[in-house]
Parts: sequence; C-alpha cells; structure tokens
Amino acid sequence: MSILYLNASLGGEHSHSQRLAGEFLAAWQQDFPNDQIISRNLADNPPPFINSAFTGALYKPQADYTPEEAEIMAVSDQYIDELIAADAIVIAAPVYNFTLPTLLKAYFDLVVRFGRTFESAPEGSRGLLGGRKVLVVSARLGDYRKGTGREHFDHHEPYLRFVLERMGITDVSYIAASQNPMLHDEATRQAQMNQYREELNQVRQTWAKARQLQPVA
Ligand SMILES: Cc1cc2nc3c(=O)[nH]c(=O)nc-3n(C[C@H](O)[C@H](O)[C@H](O)COP(=O)(O)O)c2cc1C
Repeated sequence: MSILYLNASLGGEHSHSQRLAGEFLAAWQQDFPNDQIISRNLADNPPPFINSAFTGALYKPQADYTPEEAEIMAVSDQYIDELIAADAIVIAAPVYNFTLPTLLKAYFDLVVRFGRTFESAPEGSRGLLGGRKVLVVSARLGDYRKGTGREHFDHHEPYLRFVLERMGITDVSYIAASQNPMLHDEATRQAQMNQYREELNQVRQTWAKARQLQPVA
C-alpha cells in the first residue's frame, strides 16, 4: 500500500495537525513496514498558483504547449501522478480564516483537471480517483462541529469533502482537532488530544481491515 502525505500547515514543529498526522503515519509504518509513505510538504515546497499559462494549456495537446505552459503543467502532472499512485492520502490541513490554507487550495487548483482527475459524464462529471481513502487531520482554535451553533463558520470540511468527491474520492475520514489555550487549560487540551488520537486509531483500524493483511508482529 502506498500513502501520500500532504502537509499544508505552516506551524512546523508546533503544528497539531502535523503531530497527529505524523503519529498516525508512524503507527501505520510500524504495523506495515513495507508500505510506502510519500511525503509532499506544501509548506516547504509551495505549489505555484495557477496562472494564464495553466488555463491556456488546459484544453490543448501537450505538443502545443508553450515553455510557460509546459512548466506549470509538469507540476500539475507530477502532483496528479502522485495522487494516482497512492492508495490512501493523509492531509494535515489547518483551518485558516475559516477555510483551507492557501497552499492546499493552490494544490487543488493544480490537481482538479479535466481528463486526468475527472471527466464529463451524462450526469455532469465523473471523478477518476475512486477507491482511494483520505484522512484529513484538521487543526483549529474554534469548535465548529454540529450543535455548537457555529457550523456555518466551517468552510473547511464541506469544501474538502466536495472537492475530493468531484475527483471520485468519497471515503474521507475527517478529524477536527481543536486546541484552544485561551479557552482550555493544559489538562483539558491533553484530554482533547487523547480523544483525537482515539479517533485516529479507529481510522487506522478501519484502513488496516480494508487492507486485508495482518500487521507485522
Ligand atoms: C492565519 C491564521 C488564520 C487562522 N484562522 C482560524 C480560523 O478561522 N478558525 C480557527 O478556528 N482557527 C484559526 N486559526 C488557528 C489555527 O487553525 C490553529 O492555530 C491550528 O492549530 C493551526 O494548525 P497547526 O497547529 O497544524 O499548524 C488561524 C491561524 C492562523 C495562523
């Protein structure tokens, strides 16, 4: 099994989403040492913004690309090839200003591509990346879960689920890891982290079951 790990947090060693995603991947690697984890750290190597070269190249054959078009399409192709090669994708994705980090939006702008990750279909369009699993580990200060009265603040989970679904990915586990030192003391935050770890353990067990292989002892 091959897992693509995308990091979109700018928090470095202080990042909650990276810590939790890292723990998930370390535990997975321990159970399945032969599985491959490919890391794409969008904070260390930011994706380019799509530009007129990208939109100009979208509907023309590769042989007709200008040098600028070839350059940005090569990045898009590389990212898409990595997605296609992955059986599962783990995304560390903080909430910034109620939605995705710009890094992750820039990434999706490059990978949601006609003919590569979706195609037209009688019903409108059809995603081409079906069968893959996604785990989103999302860190935030606020609590926007159902019942908080702040659900409408959340433009993160709905967008992510929707854009993944457009590419055919519907098996999405989403962990909303809220840590707020202004509202909660250290003990409460530790208990919250343990709860998120428990949720991640459940995802790991589900993935391992689906993999239909026993963990290496
Ligand atoms: C520029 C910026 C914008 C943020 N906007 C929000 C927000 O809209 N809602 C929220 O709950 N937290 C917001 N936060 C807090 C982060 O989501 C929080 O610090 C989270 O832990 C960051 O993820 P990380 O720890 O993985 O780096 C924001 C933080 C930054 C730096």
